[in-house]
Amino acid sequence: MRVVVLTGAGISAESGLSTFRDSDGLWEGHDPMQVATPEAYADDPGLVQRFYDDRRAALSRVEPNAAHHALARLEEALGDDLLVVTQNVDDLHERAGSRRVHHIHGRLRSAWCTTCDVRHEWDAPLADGPPCPGCGVSTLRPDIVWFGEVPYGMALVEQALWHCDLFVSVGTSGVVYPAAAFVHWARGATLELNLEPSAGATDFAESRQGPATRLVPGWVDELLRDGSRTSP
Ligand code: APR
Repeated sequence: MRVVVLTGAGISAESGLSTFRDSDGLWEGHDPMQVATPEAYADDPGLVQRFYDDRRAALSRVEPNAAHHALARLEEALGDDLLVVTQNVDDLHERAGSRRVHHIHGRLRSAWCTTCDVRHEWDAPLADGPPCPGCGVSTLRPDIVWFGEVPYGMALVEQALWHCDLFVSVGTSGVVYPAAAFVHWARGATLELNLEPSAGATDFAESRQGPATRLVPGWVDELLRDGSRTSP
């Protein structure tokens, strides 16, 4: 059975990373439009770099939770038939053991040189303007897809959704496109697992509410118990 799982900030919430839209509309005290757009970066690169430096540093203080581990366990069983598509820029899926993870909004632990157009694995701050290890110019920016930029690898995602038997959305509010439209691109059965019904909950064949650390392991157990079942 081919399965595509879309994850959003909700899957990492119980690891201690804040979501974008859950409390006061701010993200770690900032209006996302003031730190997550190309215009914001052009206006005040230092502010944007420091913001992402803090987010990158925070990764070393959090651990994957039971939901990330359950998806890694599912990959062990399904192999190439599972693709995790994540809007998250953290590395918790990888640290739980998932290998088939596609980050459509980029990754905190990657830096992109806008001079030589090469991406580098990156764990240090960027605000102090380190030189690009490739070309030596200090033009590294966070490898994050900001509002107004094109998400990564949409052709791959479209193909996977077109050919999947089951699409599952976990911990996303369903308001940011294109991810919010994946439920319409998916050819198979559809299931939403979220703390509360998302904006697109009624587009799914089934929507279950609760914390990801309970819902995702439960769903994975169910699927592994009855692998032939394609409808939720
Ligand atoms: N378990 C399951 N779901 C949860 C949990 C939890 N423990 N905690 C919160 N949620 C749900 C919330 O109810 C909400 O519907 O996760 C969702 C998080 O929504 P957002 O904060 O909007 O995050 P996300 O959907 O990932 O945002 C999409 O927006 O700003 C951009 O690029 C950013 O990738 C991000 C995109």
